[in-house]
Amino acid sequence: MKQDPRFKNLFILDHPLIQHKLSHMRDKRTSTRTFRDLLREITLLMGYEITRDLPLTTETIETPLVTYEAPVIAGKKLAVVPVLRAGVGMSDGLLELIPSARVGHIGVYRDQNHQPVEYLVRLPDLQDRIMILCDPMVATGNSAVYAVDALKKRGVPASHIMFVALVAAPEGVQVFADAHPDVKLYVASLDSHLDEDAYIVPGLGDAGDRIFGTK
Ligand code: URA
Repeated sequence: MKQDPRFKNLFILDHPLIQHKLSHMRDKRTSTRTFRDLLREITLLMGYEITRDLPLTTETIETPLVTYEAPVIAGKKLAVVPVLRAGVGMSDGLLELIPSARVGHIGVYRDQNHQPVEYLVRLPDLQDRIMILCDPMVATGNSAVYAVDALKKRGVPASHIMFVALVAAPEGVQVFADAHPDVKLYVASLDSHLDEDAYIVPGLGDAGDRIFGTK
C-alpha cells in the first residue's frame, strides 16, 4: 500500500496483481465479460487489503482438542454500499470476500454540470456498523463526497466509513480530501488528470458502460 504525499487520506493499492489486472481493464479491446470479471477479481484483492485493520474479538469454541479463545471479527456485520450504478461491479467482489455483509445502495447521477443528483438511498441499520462505499471512478469527486455525506448525515462516524475505488483523478481526490479528510479513500491507481468532459486520463472510459455493456 502506497501513499501520495499530496493526500493524507488516500491509499494506493499497488499490488502487482491489481496493477496487472487494471491494465487489462484499461485496454479498450477488453470485452464486457472480461472487464467485469477483472473488476470483481481486483475488488476481492482490494477488499483483502482494506479489511486488514478490522477489529477482532474472541469467541470461546471447542476444537477437537481443547477449549480455545478464537479470534473473530468484532461488532456487527459490515455493510457494502455501492454507488449506483458502476459501484455494483465492485460490490460483487466485496460480497464474495465478506458474504455475510449487509448491502446498501446509493443512487446518484451526474447532471450536465457534473453535479451529483440523488435518486435512491437504501441502507441497512447503521448503528455501530462499518460501511464500505464503492464506486470504480473518483473523477470530479462530487459523487464520492455526496455518498459519504449521505452516511455522515445519518450519523455514521468517519471512522466507520471506507471508500474504495478503482481509479481516481487528483482533482477528485482533492475535492474528497477537502470535504472528508477523516475518511480513508482506497484506490488501485491515481491517474494523471481529468479531461474537459470530466473523464479520467488515462482512465478506462465509462466504467458503467464497460461493466454493463451499454453505450
Ligand atoms: N466516470 C467514469 O465512468 N469514467 C470516468 O473516466 C469518469 C467518470
